[in-house]
Amino acid sequence: MRLLSFLGLLVGGTFSLAIAVKSQVNPSSIDVFQMPELPPPPEDGRILSEKGLVVSTQRQASEVGAKILAQGGNAVDAAVAIGYALAVTEPCCGNLGGGGFMLIQPAQGKPTFINFREKAPLAAHKELYLKQPRGASRNGYLAVATPGTVKGLEAALTQYGTLERAQVIAPAITLAEKGFVLSQGDVAILRVGRERLLQPNIAEIFGTVKGQRAGDTLVQKDLAQTLKKIAQGGEKAFYQGEIAENIVKASKAEGGILSLADFTQYTIRQEKPLICTYRGYEVITAPPPGGGLPLCQMLNILEGYPLEETGFRTPQALHWFLSAMFYGYRDRNLYLGDPDFVSIPSEKLLSKSYAAQLRTKIPNYFAIRVKNTLPTKLDGQTTHYSVVDRQGNAVAVTYTLNSYFGAGVMAPKTGFLLNNEMDDFTTKLGSPNQYGLSQGSANLIEPGKRPLSSMSPTIVKHRGRLFLVTGTPGGSTIITTILQVITNIIDYRLRVDQAVNSPRLHYQGEPRTVLIEKKAISNQVRRDLEKRGYQFSERLTNWGAAETILLNSKGVLEGVNDYRRPAGAAIAEPQLQKSLTR
Ligand code: GLY
Repeated sequence: MRLLSFLGLLVGGTFSLAIAVKSQVNPSSIDVFQMPELPPPPEDGRILSEKGLVVSTQRQASEVGAKILAQGGNAVDAAVAIGYALAVTEPCCGNLGGGGFMLIQPAQGKPTFINFREKAPLAAHKELYLKQPRGASRNGYLAVATPGTVKGLEAALTQYGTLERAQVIAPAITLAEKGFVLSQGDVAILRVGRERLLQPNIAEIFGTVKGQRAGDTLVQKDLAQTLKKIAQGGEKAFYQGEIAENIVKASKAEGGILSLADFTQYTIRQEKPLICTYRGYEVITAPPPGGGLPLCQMLNILEGYPLEETGFRTPQALHWFLSAMFYGYRDRNLYLGDPDFVSIPSEKLLSKSYAAQLRTKIPNYFAIRVKNTLPTKLDGQTTHYSVVDRQGNAVAVTYTLNSYFGAGVMAPKTGFLLNNEMDDFTTKLGSPNQYGLSQGSANLIEPGKRPLSSMSPTIVKHRGRLFLVTGTPGGSTIITTILQVITNIIDYRLRVDQAVNSPRLHYQGEPRTVLIEKKAISNQVRRDLEKRGYQFSERLTNWGAAETILLNSKGVLEGVNDYRRPAGAAIAEPQLQKSLTR
């Protein structure tokens, strides 16, 4: 049976390839992303280290990071190396053609937040998609925002790294040029890409029968050339040379609006991260347009409830959780946007008194009533990785192409996929995006503006000491996933791997349905919550991989690769390579 369905895939894939290489991405095509059934989480999913540790959603990329640490690099060197390696080994999500956020907490000193989120092209405007076919903000060149990843990684390395650019990009070049052997987990993700991987320029690399089987070697020659150019010329090679020119040319030819000015004028934003407190812990996270503000708001609301005493996943505790999620998402949709363009009442939204005020609005028993809307699709993907080095420097990175394999377009000779981050804007007031988020006017498209994001790389400290480094992909479920990882550890005292692997819930108010992972709640609890007015769905199958590191009270790092991403790995800095010098 398994063989038959596999053969079906091969035949389908080969046949589609012949057609797709001549066609454009169909903007109205509907993606149905489904990850295969997972084996259960391991009994103990922790990897321990007394030195450095990295965890990412792709094993070879984690190995790259661990080796960079062993070569004397610090956590930022390793994070930049992983960022480039994932662009090769996890093409669904790791990227050069997208953007994201990096949170750095040096062992000594203040944290910093590097926002390299993509920007809307200068020719974009708030009515861009109103007369376009359905799906134009998700598929094809019109969906592409100006990428920020290369500038973000470069900024981090220049300011906080210790190794040369060429040294941290070298492993990625080797992985692209010589190829890497696909694991079953890698193949599962490539298969999820389906239609996007059968498009012009992309099909030649990924859409082949060969590239879809575990054990095959995936070689990416064009990507290796692109990486070499970046290794030599830095961000200029990406934003001011042939790479940008090729993207702009392809975009113009295919109905996109990217111009060279979008690339030459692209800037990152670097600032103090958003910091809030939760039961005596310091939560350092992503300021807008990232998802840290609603995360802190939810934590502030929950802080007023006796979660531990009320019990893990009891109806009452879940009612408080779902209500906190409701208000976090309501305010996100009402108030948040790119702070370079809109004024956000952050102080009020983050205050403990505002949380107390919201708690008074939460009914004791019944669910908060909202209008019902269409079910959400939630098919996007992103990737998160965490690094801590032996000095205690910590880095959390979440970066993304938005959907799996972005907009499904690749400019000739570049070798990397381009994002569809334009769909994270409010493309039409009142219309939900792919995550079912009906966002507000603060997030309307403007030239050079960054779309709102849920990405929230997060570092938690306790009494001034590093405690947790976390984050996750998963579109709008990012914020609620991190909320659960943090509260699972702080309130419910779960071990870090149990906190990560424990089945999850997600609620964003609209749609009214609470998404639940299998076994997240018992039937009895579900019936109780249904009586309160909640409704549930197990439709979402690709929950995000919360790649997390905890520093325990004995000073040992505990890293966990989320079992939901079997391609990933937590890897300790190799002991044997301790003496290697750079
Ligand atoms: N692209 C998903 C997010 O940034 O929230």
